[in-house]
Amino acid sequence: MLKAQNLTKRFFGLLAVDSASIDVEEGSITGLIGPNGAGKTTMFAMIAGFLSPNSGQVAFEGNDITGEKPHLRARRGLARTFQIVQPFAGLNVRDNIAVGAYLHTKDPREARSLASQTAERVGLGRELEKLASGLTIAGRKRLELARALATRPKLLLLDEVLAGLNPSEIRDVLPIIRSIRDEGVTILMIEHIMQAVMNLCDSVYVLSQGRMIASGEPRAVCNDPAVIEAYLGHGAAERIRSEGAADA
Ligand SMILES: Nc1ncnc2c1ncn2[C@@H]1O[C@H](COP(=O)(O)OP(=O)(O)O)[C@@H](O)[C@H]1O
Ligand SMILES: [Mg+2]
Repeated sequence: MLKAQNLTKRFFGLLAVDSASIDVEEGSITGLIGPNGAGKTTMFAMIAGFLSPNSGQVAFEGNDITGEKPHLRARRGLARTFQIVQPFAGLNVRDNIAVGAYLHTKDPREARSLASQTAERVGLGRELEKLASGLTIAGRKRLELARALATRPKLLLLDEVLAGLNPSEIRDVLPIIRSIRDEGVTILMIEHIMQAVMNLCDSVYVLSQGRMIASGEPRAVCNDPAVIEAYLGHGAAERIRSEGAADA
């Protein structure tokens, strides 16, 4: 469904993403993980059209969209959430979500009605009248998810929607993400929380210092020594192996 090939992004001297590729299969939940600063959000921005790559291509459903503006990609069915959640604080929950719905309708009543339905899907059905500024972090994350969903995406890019949530809030959101996929929306998610990645993802890509260092089935990827080293530092995989041997 999505093929990002050899994407490279330089910020002045810094090589933020270095010839990284991702393939997302229709109907899947695909994870993108990696340490802080690895280039994950930059990769999303290139896929969604908010940043143009220095080189490489993005294809969506077989069409090359590399040079296309974000709103045109959104019309094709590509939506993203933002890691830094910035709702319109002075608007209520319904109207914040309706902002997404206006992609497909000019009729405010229809947009609000779609917004209300979308709020139900993410568990905000009882907070429609509440000002966005009055939501908790968990509520804002749900709102961000709903705003993207209201654009009726085929592919939803989630940038750390679980970050800042406590374990019980995470447990509440995992089934929502799964149900979105089950309703036919393909998902590519950046996530730090391994429990979520293991639970949800069909396959996982690992970015480290701008390079894609591993990909595959989540369990295999998380046991890959190169991945462990990327997270925990040089020699970590060996240390874990020898500690395991000492415990046995
Ligand atoms: N707009 C920008 N200008 C300059 N440097 C940036 C910009 N956006 C990100 N970076 C840098 O690029 C690298 C990758 O950032 P990012 O994609 O946000 O990583 P991640 O999402 O994996 O934590 C970091 O070193 C970050 O400081
Ligand atoms: Mg990020």
